[in-house]
Amino acid sequence: MAHKIISKQQLSNDVFTAEIEAPLVAAARQPGQFVIISISNEYSERIPLTIAGANPKKGTIQLIWQRVGKTTAELSDLNVGDTIANVAGPLGKATHLKKFGTVVCVGGGIGNAPLLPIATALKEQGNTIISILGARNKELIILEKEFAAISDELIVTTDDGSYGRKALVTEPLKEVCQRNPKPDQAYAIGPAIMMKFCCEVTKQFAVPTEVSLNTIMIDGTGMCGGCRIEYDGKPKFVCVDGPEFDGHKVNFDLMMKRLGAYKNSEQKEHEKYKTHHCKIGLDKK
Ligand code: FAD
Ligand code: FES
Ligand code: MG
Repeated sequence: MAHKIISKQQLSNDVFTAEIEAPLVAAARQPGQFVIISISNEYSERIPLTIAGANPKKGTIQLIWQRVGKTTAELSDLNVGDTIANVAGPLGKATHLKKFGTVVCVGGGIGNAPLLPIATALKEQGNTIISILGARNKELIILEKEFAAISDELIVTTDDGSYGRKALVTEPLKEVCQRNPKPDQAYAIGPAIMMKFCCEVTKQFAVPTEVSLNTIMIDGTGMCGGCRIEYDGKPKFVCVDGPEFDGHKVNFDLMMKRLGAYKNSEQKEHEKYKTHHCKIGLDKK
């Protein structure tokens, strides 16, 4: 079954959101889960994207993505009425939701997309939510309004000071952890390097911290090993054992090394797509 794009919006220069027909996924999904999509056919690259929201009555799911390479560029070039060949999911384990007390939710860049359904569900469980949203610059801060609606306190930071406080997210995170009482739980979702340093901060204060890992994925069923990480000294597969893990037990250095393994070919494919695409419009329907 092809999956039609029902609506699409550009949230910033490189960030897009779309509502996509996927009734079975919409009915079954829980916060924290993701889908693996392939755009044109079974030979297209498979990429994982978090289910940012769902409307089971309409039979749609919401995806939010950042255009970073070939496949996310291809997805960004689709329009309302176009279809995506395959949407597999919901995949991964759902977020473990409970009333912790005060939860600090830290989102970096596009990490705000997977963080929002988790923070919303935690709020619904009766937790007090402190959200810290960070990005390189103002343009890359997404979903601020949505976080403001579900947060008891919202702190925004940018690396260049173009919006909010000029700081990395770890600075306010440390201050929040120094409060008395300290937060009962933290969630950090964003680039691997950000999650690594957030975990270093929360570890000092013994604040348990969940992270959602963005390893390379291929099959999403635990068969290919593409998403393998070292967790508490043992191998785990992010697609079936995660994507959420106790961040204090993740070997982030190894994960970052594996994430960069295909950088050269990814860049070449992206360049090829950009030059092949849009020159004279022959590839458009
Ligand atoms: P490429 O140029 O091919 O790759 C750019 C970078 O993306 C790579 O260096 C690598 O770090 C990563 N990447 C490449 N291929 C894959 C792959 N098959 N699987 C995973 N990572 C890959 N991004 C969003 O914008 N929104 C989301 O909601 C979102 N949710 C995710 C949920 C999970 C569980 C995971 C694992 C990743 C998620 N990502 C999300 C990241 C997204 O999958 C990558 O940005 C995307 O695959 C890049 O593909 P590309 O061809 O455009 O870029
Ligand atoms: Fe293949 Fe996880 S994506 S084992
Ligand atoms: Mg790619």
